[in-house]
Amino acid sequence: MSGPNTDYDPVEVTPLKAEEVDAARDAALAAIAAAQDLEELKQVRIDHVGDRSALALANREIGALPPAARKEAGQRIGQARAAVNKALAERQAVLEAEHEARILVEEAVDVTLPTDRCPTGGRHPLTTGAELIADIFVAMGWEVAEGPVIEAEWLNFDALNLGPDHPARTMQDTFWTEPAENHLVLRTHTSPVQARTMLTRGVTEDAPIYVVCPGRVFRTDEYDATHSPMFHQVEGLAIDEGITMAHLKGTLDHFASQMFGEGITTRFRPSYFPFTEPSAEVDLVCFVCRGIDSEDCRTCRGEGWIEWGGCGIVNPRVLRACGVDADRFSGFAFGMGIDRTLMFRHGLEDLRTLFEGDVRFTTAFGSEI
Ligand code: DAH
Repeated sequence: MSGPNTDYDPVEVTPLKAEEVDAARDAALAAIAAAQDLEELKQVRIDHVGDRSALALANREIGALPPAARKEAGQRIGQARAAVNKALAERQAVLEAEHEARILVEEAVDVTLPTDRCPTGGRHPLTTGAELIADIFVAMGWEVAEGPVIEAEWLNFDALNLGPDHPARTMQDTFWTEPAENHLVLRTHTSPVQARTMLTRGVTEDAPIYVVCPGRVFRTDEYDATHSPMFHQVEGLAIDEGITMAHLKGTLDHFASQMFGEGITTRFRPSYFPFTEPSAEVDLVCFVCRGIDSEDCRTCRGEGWIEWGGCGIVNPRVLRACGVDADRFSGFAFGMGIDRTLMFRHGLEDLRTLFEGDVRFTTAFGSEI
């Protein structure tokens, strides 16, 4: 019979020996110090404080010791594990801080760097402005017509009843081209498009003419805030049976209110143009003061009205010159400066801003394409 082995008193268990514990601790501390990043530190943690680590195994041996020996061994192991855990926590904090600092540097975005993106182009306000005008007429069933900027002298002047003695034919207003015997001019107005339209399509009761003609025109003017040797006009021409001044007035009132807002109408002042009879200057109700308490208004200079263009009933001589039966058909015509109209509409003070191609000016109109 053998009884309990009361003689067995293993005061010393190898893993709990002071040298062993110190060695395990030092190995752990060295590995922690050597870990270069969080990934390495994770492995160190498994190796040195994980379930199978020397310190964990030693800890488990404590229970095998006789009570008298447990306290000292427990303290030794406890201190070693505490030292290792503390070192782990400190190294973890250091490596995390390094990691964050590195990410900040590596992923930094310099928001001040110039972009290499190509800005979207936009159409010039004069182009979109001319289209806006054309759209107002197209919505009423009108068509858009165009003509060349180098025009026959006959279409620019004679067909429109501008006789050879008219002041507009002198060198002061007109850019002539050489050789002179070709009789070509840079058109001084868009009115020759009227003549071209009548001549090319003719008029019948089934096919009346309702056209708007926007385009570039040229005159030997100074270049200043209100003049330019190149500018833009829009011409209107309606030829039908029974056309009267009332149709003209209604059309221009509609044009004005579409362009400048509800309530902006027109008035006619008697005038003279060789191609219309009767003729009138068209004024707009001042779109700033609207004709109310105008004395202090700088836009209309106290007038309550602003000059906009010319108009009238097409002179029968023009109809005949362009092959239209003047006993049967009558018509109205008008002509406005597009640049001037846009200056009013957008409050521009200097005509030249429209021509100088500065994107800081044009982008304010958006980049509609
Ligand atoms: N062609 C004229 C000009 O340039 C403007 C004009 C006036 C056109 C009366 C017209 C019109 O069609 O009827 O000054």
